[in-house]
Amino acid sequence: MTAYQNLLETLRQNPKTWLVTGVAGFIGSNLLEHLLKLDQQVVGLDNFATGHQHNLDEVQNLVTPEQWNRFQFVEGDICNQTDCEKACEGVDYVLHQAALGSVPRSIKDPVTTNAANITGFLNMLVAARDAGVQSFTYAASSSTYGDHPALPKVEENIGKPLSPYAVTKYVNELYADVFAKTYGFNTIGLRYFNVFGKRQDPNGAYAAVIPKWTASMISGDDVFINGDGETSRDFCFVENAVQANLLSATASAEAKDEVYNVAVGDRTTLNDLFHALQSALAENGKPYEKSPVYRDFRAGDVRHSQADISKAADKLGYAPEFRIMDGIAKAMPWYIQNVG
Ligand SMILES: NC(=O)c1ccc[n+]([C@@H]2O[C@H](COP(=O)([O-])OP(=O)(O)OC[C@H]3O[C@@H](n4cnc5c(N)ncnc54)[C@H](O)[C@@H]3O)[C@@H](O)[C@H]2O)c1
Repeated sequence: MTAYQNLLETLRQNPKTWLVTGVAGFIGSNLLEHLLKLDQQVVGLDNFATGHQHNLDEVQNLVTPEQWNRFQFVEGDICNQTDCEKACEGVDYVLHQAALGSVPRSIKDPVTTNAANITGFLNMLVAARDAGVQSFTYAASSSTYGDHPALPKVEENIGKPLSPYAVTKYVNELYADVFAKTYGFNTIGLRYFNVFGKRQDPNGAYAAVIPKWTASMISGDDVFINGDGETSRDFCFVENAVQANLLSATASAEAKDEVYNVAVGDRTTLNDLFHALQSALAENGKPYEKSPVYRDFRAGDVRHSQADISKAADKLGYAPEFRIMDGIAKAMPWYIQNVG
């Protein structure tokens, strides 16, 4: 049995109470689904800034009524300390996902991104510390590698941030580290690398590349590639991120107060991604015949990204179960059913 299979078995036998912030969003709702299917008690906090009621409704349809009854939703804002305190009551583990994602959004409106991602983060740290939770796992980001050129990315070697969003995610790590040092509070930061999967929002100006392109292809619209298409990413299927969260929350003391890369360790160019999505759609009876339309590079984007995941493997027992093609194959039926 892997470390993760062992953990799932332990949790099934000995359920805990989890707080998932950003629960109506993409990663949050996938965490919710997995935790409820493991018969855990879950509190969810969200203000629907970018999340959706329909994500929660979909999870409700995927679990039993008994499992759904173990979910308590708090509609609230992490920028409001009372909402954070209310959500943290009686919680064992916090999985803090709530934030405003997207590099371009932060370039357009750094103040709003700063409020949710830094003030909101600090509010959550304080509320979780005061509630005496056992651990605080939070969504950090590969954007923290900024302009550091080395590949693959190793946790200790970071560069200067390239966007306001990247600044906020780095500040999260600094605050978490200071809370560990000054209050002995257990935190783990997960530097996600381009997570994708079902319920990732394909709509809006700030949609991520996989849902945005998939939706365009299903609708027969043009697909735009920013730059020459040789920009590369370590795309990580959401179920790998769920595994990293559960392992982190329950990790031993030596593994805490650290940040970990959460990815697969692969590197896929945007040109290759385009062809991968095109063939997955063809396999699902939705062929897309157009060629991509190339346009300018986007400000703030990192050119290449690929993770070294050995630290998470060694210290957390993280072993991603899905490579990019496995994840696309799993996510595609959902997109075909829900988009276009
Ligand atoms: N998806 C990725 O590839 C990726 C990569 C790196 C880091 N992250 C981080 O992972 C986390 C989850 O991202 P996601 O992709 O699921 O995004 P998402 O937008 O789908 O989910 C974020 C959720 O947080 C909620 N939220 C935002 N501001 C809030 C506030 N002030 N109070 C309460 N709730 C609030 C939103 O309504 C939404 O439901 C974020 O912290 C993001 O920065 C994601």
